[in-house]
Amino acid sequence: MAWTNLASAKTLPGRYHKAYSQLVDGLSKKQIAELKAGFSLYAKGWVTAPSSTKVRDGLGPHFNAVSCVSCHQHNGRGRAPIQGLKPDFSLLMRLSVQGQNKDGSPVGDPVYGTQFHPRATLGVENEGDLELTYTEKNEVLAGGKVVSLQVPSYKFKNLKYGSMSQDIMISPRVAPHLAGVGYLDKVSEEQILEYADELDSNRDGISGKVNYVWNVLAQKKTIGRFGWKANQPTLLQQNAGAFNGDLGITSSLFPNQNCSSLQSDCLSALDGGAPEISDKHLDFVNLMVSSIDRPKVKRLKNYEEGKKVFFQLKCQQCHRPSFQVEGKEVKAYTDLLLHDMGAALADGRADFLANGREWKTPPLWGIGAQKEVNGHTYLLHDGRARNVEEAILWHGGEAEKSKQMYKALSEEERESLLNFVNSL
Ligand code: HEC
Ligand code: HEC
Repeated sequence: MAWTNLASAKTLPGRYHKAYSQLVDGLSKKQIAELKAGFSLYAKGWVTAPSSTKVRDGLGPHFNAVSCVSCHQHNGRGRAPIQGLKPDFSLLMRLSVQGQNKDGSPVGDPVYGTQFHPRATLGVENEGDLELTYTEKNEVLAGGKVVSLQVPSYKFKNLKYGSMSQDIMISPRVAPHLAGVGYLDKVSEEQILEYADELDSNRDGISGKVNYVWNVLAQKKTIGRFGWKANQPTLLQQNAGAFNGDLGITSSLFPNQNCSSLQSDCLSALDGGAPEISDKHLDFVNLMVSSIDRPKVKRLKNYEEGKKVFFQLKCQQCHRPSFQVEGKEVKAYTDLLLHDMGAALADGRADFLANGREWKTPPLWGIGAQKEVNGHTYLLHDGRARNVEEAILWHGGEAEKSKQMYKALSEEERESLLNFVNSL
């Protein structure tokens, strides 16, 4: 991982396609030096404490992966698990039981907490394994084309700390790509609220609900914008949450190891300091992540026709074309709001104000580069869709009409629409 000319760095290091690795303009030399330090904390593997690698020790005791890039490869999207194999570690499983904590967050399983950890450091039990199987179901489009969709089903195996709660609720999620997240962090609250219409007062069948989530630094609830359910309010808290939940690294924002009170081996394992990542280092990582520019994607043919179809099908009612950020038009194709997407996509697990059928509209920007960067075209919160067409056919609930209109399109119109989305 070579940094070419540090003073004028334009992309993050890496051998592959750079669509998710461009840096924003205008970074100072000092920022680039800090960002480089941040990149190493993000990209290099964390190790078990105690270790001579002081800055990166404290992994676990329970964890999903040893570094951020294990899941966000090339700053990109996680891969969908493959039928029959254990899910890839870029899919994580959130857990909870009925109810809400005082801050509005989901209540964890008494033994396994709010996230399942298939890995652990030496001397500590991992929590168990996760198995995924798919069955297929068909959708038939106008003209007779049959599209097969894979329906996922999950099973926990080899649970090391006994059984889970009877009423356990699960929410599988794959890692989104990180290009442009710094802009989404800066979208003003007013702009997000402008599209919110929780009670559907304009009767267009699309509501759009803001998730208000606990903001640790502000010590109050603020608008959620990161994660598949808009369950994190800021990029900093999202990153600190990832260190804690996914790698087992504590910070001033999340000072507790992710061991429950019933996991004594986990609780008594050595830590890598309190906290394991300092505020300064967390800021470096945050600077690095927030400095990744918008994805760079090339336009496919019939872009303009496809764009028309996108608007005809009312996709833009949720996939809002743009926000204004610092005088720039940021074309993310999301409203950052929650929508009821129907029973087939529902996880049945609430996350702050998001109910079990609601998901945040994900940004569509970057989809066109995913194949080149990550080697696959899997989409949706759990990676079940194998391409854009399948993703559309999974839409239901508030997006049912859009889906039905898609199914009624001619083959040519469908191709234009797919090309448009694959040009974002
Ligand atoms: C185990 C895989 C995994 C690891 C490791 C991981 N992430 Fe993620 N990341 C995810 C998943 C899954 C989500 C979506 C989370 C959700 O919906 O709650 C996510 C979401 C994010 C987001 C929000 C993106 C968006 O558009 O909403 C950011 C930023 C992020 N991760 C940064 C990091 C950083 C920084 C690290 C390292 C400290 C990291 N991640 C480690 C899987 C991972
Ligand atoms: C009612 C709001 C709504 C409408 C209308 C809508 N979408 Fe979506 N879209 C969503 C949400 C929410 C998700 C995430 C669902 C999930 O992951 O389970 C999503 C996911 C997607 C994805 C996958 C994105 C990713 O990052 O995995 C694509 C592609 C997509 N939509 C395209 C479209 C197109 C094209 C249309 C019009 C035919 C459309 N959507 C209409 C809300 C909407």
